[in-house]
Amino acid sequence: MKIAILPGDGIGTEIVAQAVRAMQCLDLRFETETAAVGGAAYEAHGHPLPEATLKLAKEADAVLFGAVGDWKYDKLERALRPEQAILGLRKNLGLFANFRPAICYEQLTHASSLKPELVAGLDILIIRELTGDIYFGQPRGRREAPDGPFKGAQEAFDTMRYTRPEIERIAHVAFQAARKRSKRVTSVDKANVLETFQFWRDVVTEVHAQYPDIELDHMYVDNAAMQLVKAPKRFDVVVTGNMFGDILSDEAAMLTGSIGMLPSASLNEAGRGLYEPSHGSAPDIAGKDLANPLATMLSVAMMLRFSLNHPEAADRIESAVQHVLASGLRTADIWSEGTTKVGTRAMGDAVVAALSGKTTKTITKS
Ligand code: IPM
Ligand code: MG
Repeated sequence: MKIAILPGDGIGTEIVAQAVRAMQCLDLRFETETAAVGGAAYEAHGHPLPEATLKLAKEADAVLFGAVGDWKYDKLERALRPEQAILGLRKNLGLFANFRPAICYEQLTHASSLKPELVAGLDILIIRELTGDIYFGQPRGRREAPDGPFKGAQEAFDTMRYTRPEIERIAHVAFQAARKRSKRVTSVDKANVLETFQFWRDVVTEVHAQYPDIELDHMYVDNAAMQLVKAPKRFDVVVTGNMFGDILSDEAAMLTGSIGMLPSASLNEAGRGLYEPSHGSAPDIAGKDLANPLATMLSVAMMLRFSLNHPEAADRIESAVQHVLASGLRTADIWSEGTTKVGTRAMGDAVVAALSGKTTKTITKS
């Protein structure tokens, strides 16, 4: 099994290093190869997604990705910004199906900004379409407005569009995922205003006819944003487009107390995937041993389950993470009164110890 390791920027390198340590405890044989991506690749090779990195990602059985981005690149032209690396990987590898689970761990119920009773036991799966929509739609650009009240003024525009096959395949992914859960799908759109999302609703409804065992409801995105903070447990699988999925997945993530806990998987038609924590590169805390490596470790678990066919190894990682949480260890983002604050590396040590069966009960305060 060949894994491409793309740590990226900010906290990316620290969290990926800990996840790789955890992977190495699994008694499985991996070949890993590391390559630069994002701002780090721009610095080293003049491009956020160098040819060699893309080639490695394409050849590997799976990609473990850290995070990209730093404010210091905000002034670069768009094509050279770190974010283009992740967008380019999604497009070039055809990673159209993005799974973002939002699970509220029992021990972290109090870290949520919502009342504990609203989030206790929360387990939502957001399935975000990842290679279409306004993110990639052409044409886009700047020009002189060809019409309208400000005809002739400078304007910028993007294009929201979805083809039928793009909607069909993500709908199938959602219904099939729901079969393994509580058999409910909420499709989120803006059919009351946007032609693209009226079409989305029509096509999702058509595909649903093939899944009579699954309950489907449709919700406008503004209402979905509200319901997520009002009664998040009403959701099970949520399927939506690229733009709405970007926004709602951050909202859902925060319900669980910390975005630092949430993994993600982005899969293509062949089941190959890129696995990354749902959080970003957090340049403000980079290099300070403050970042939470658990989301990246849980992303490795998703990789083992979805792309590498080692569900037992995935279970081991997830149990090890549960174990360290139960033993009271917390990185700063999930710390609360009565628990023990540890850094990135010490959290890695604890997971490695749990995976090696050395379940030490001695907790050192830092
Ligand atoms: C995400 C991120 C990306 C996105 C950025 C970094 C391009 O916010 O993965 O959610 O908008 O998709
Ligand atoms: Mg986002």
